[in-house]
Amino acid sequence: MKKAAFLSIAMGLAISTVMIQSCKKDDKTTPVVTKPTLYDSLGGTTMVTDPKNSSAKIEQGYLTIRSVVDSSIFVIAADTNINKFFNVLLMEVTSGNTSGFAALSKNLSDFVAVGTGAKNFTYGGKNMVAAHDPAQNSRMNGKAMNDDFDSFETDLVKGAGQNGIMPTNPALQSLAGIVESLRKQVVQN
Ligand code: HEM
Repeated sequence: MKKAAFLSIAMGLAISTVMIQSCKKDDKTTPVVTKPTLYDSLGGTTMVTDPKNSSAKIEQGYLTIRSVVDSSIFVIAADTNINKFFNVLLMEVTSGNTSGFAALSKNLSDFVAVGTGAKNFTYGGKNMVAAHDPAQNSRMNGKAMNDDFDSFETDLVKGAGQNGIMPTNPALQSLAGIVESLRKQVVQN
């Protein structure tokens, strides 16, 4: 085929592709097929009774995340490799003040929920650099190093295990990928 003819066929194909795409966009009857999110595989928006408050309902996806987050905070609190970073939180809890724990539980859960694709939650805490920079967050006692981050990941897996989510669980592996992608923002040395 001559080069000019090839080019004109190729251009024709390109133009018709654009038209098909734009027709699809304007056609309001075309069903939108969305891929299930990681949040969906953690339970999604199915409403269940909140075990912390039997008169309230909670999305199953958020409940799964909050359960793993809370268990992990307890694992971290007992982990002498990294619990020194949480000294403000631990002092509060020891003296019977759980407001910082509640705030951390909420912010971490919201952060993970949004990161896994939840639509009905927003994250209102600090960004990951600010949250882990002692100069910007007085609740962060020192700068975390790579091995601290490794311990944090191990503790998350333990926290998940306490909720029946095993390391082979594909959702946990995807979540671990998200956590790992944040290493550079948390480890600032
Ligand atoms: C990808 C991994 C991590 C994520 C997603 C994460 C997420 C968060 C979030 C959302 C907050 C709350 C920020 C706010 O309230 O504004 C926070 C606070 C904090 N993080 Fe992390 N974090 C990670 C890793 C680490 C590591 C490795 C350490 C230390 C070893 C650490 C230590 C802390 C401390 C001490 C706080 C303050 C806790 C408090 O409020 O008392 N984080 N983190």
